[in-house]
Amino acid sequence: MTTDTLPPADTRIMRIVHNALRRDLARAAQVLRTAPPPAQPQRVALADHLVWMMHFLHLHHSGEDRGLWPLVREGNPGARALLDAMEADHARIDREMERVTAAAIGYRVHPAAREDLSHALTALEQVLLPHLQREEDEMMPVVARTLTRRQWDDVEQRVFVASKTKRELGVEAHWIVDGVDRVDYDVTVRKVGPATRFMLLHVFERPYRRACAARWGADLDVSPRLHRPLRTEGSAELWIGVPARQLYDAVADVTRISERSPECRSCAWLPGPSPGTVGARFRGHNRARHARWSRVCEVIAAEPGERFEFHTVSDRRNPLYHDSTTWSYTFRADGDGTRVTHSYRIDILPYRPLLSLYSHLQPQHQDMRPQMRQNLEALRRQARDGTLVSGAPPGMSSRTGRRERPWDRSGPRRGWSREASTRRGA
Ligand SMILES: [Fe+2]
Ligand SMILES: [Fe+2]
Repeated sequence: MTTDTLPPADTRIMRIVHNALRRDLARAAQVLRTAPPPAQPQRVALADHLVWMMHFLHLHHSGEDRGLWPLVREGNPGARALLDAMEADHARIDREMERVTAAAIGYRVHPAAREDLSHALTALEQVLLPHLQREEDEMMPVVARTLTRRQWDDVEQRVFVASKTKRELGVEAHWIVDGVDRVDYDVTVRKVGPATRFMLLHVFERPYRRACAARWGADLDVSPRLHRPLRTEGSAELWIGVPARQLYDAVADVTRISERSPECRSCAWLPGPSPGTVGARFRGHNRARHARWSRVCEVIAAEPGERFEFHTVSDRRNPLYHDSTTWSYTFRADGDGTRVTHSYRIDILPYRPLLSLYSHLQPQHQDMRPQMRQNLEALRRQARDGTLVSGAPPGMSSRTGRRERPWDRSGPRRGWSREASTRRGA
């Protein structure tokens, strides 16, 4: 098992590769359903691509079976049953892959084999898609607990990268990043060094686009979505099985935001109006990727059991902290529990030159809904575990256990990088 001192395996690439498989299986099914049927050049291009995909999937599974699972077996005897299930899935999927390969070869030479290929793809999806999901939901968390990042990186390089030619890697790289967002793009392309990356991304881009136009049609945009537009508002909702007032008290105690937020590391009330009331201010210290920043926030709505709202305070003297976002929680009784809505709205955008810098440094801020969802899920976990109520009373610093004093404000900030700071969040 991994130790606390070593970073755990980063398994995100598994979901990204699986998504590429899901994406092209769906595209293939769509082309096969379309009327009129594809003409000969598209038929050949599609058949060839499916044969390539089955070969890729075969390598993917054999890499897992021979390279990854043995390491997990060795490091985590408790994972045996799950690993056996993964291998059994692979054997079942192998049989359906062979059917798809045979049907694609048949379709390549004869359009009448379209129906056969369609059936073979459906049969493959029935066994493959649940497997991919289970591997992501159950197996990858076990892998991350068992292997260190270095072990994962070693096996990834040895089994999935070093065993392939530059041409194979170039084709794969473009296929994997087709349509992905900035985060997934970065995770994928950083699997190779800068020089190889430059070569792979530039030499193989045009051939990939041409091949896609041939099999899917010229209208399909296969570019990675690197510049997602900034979403200036959004919300996430979750039902939690406890009364609204308990949830309200938990979120209004901002000193515990760090227990639920993916980015906030600590929060403390500042001198002024009573903690948790309208006008009360607090400072949140955040960290994401390599950036650290802190912001002052002010409570703007405090209606116990119904609504708690605060915004980041715009600092017009500091261009980095000019922006402002409102964050709110609303609570609505629903059956035995409460429907909680967590939402955000950017009231003042960062200065324009900083926007593109931020979108590059912190792409997850282009759309805050996934983070809000994580926050609500953590709130639900606290409700289930009975840990909604803090040991320290509201208004006390989560770090020191006492109310923060004016001179505390400069303390934690001294060592924090403001150059790499970003704009939103408490
Ligand atoms: Fe996999
Ligand atoms: Fe697998």
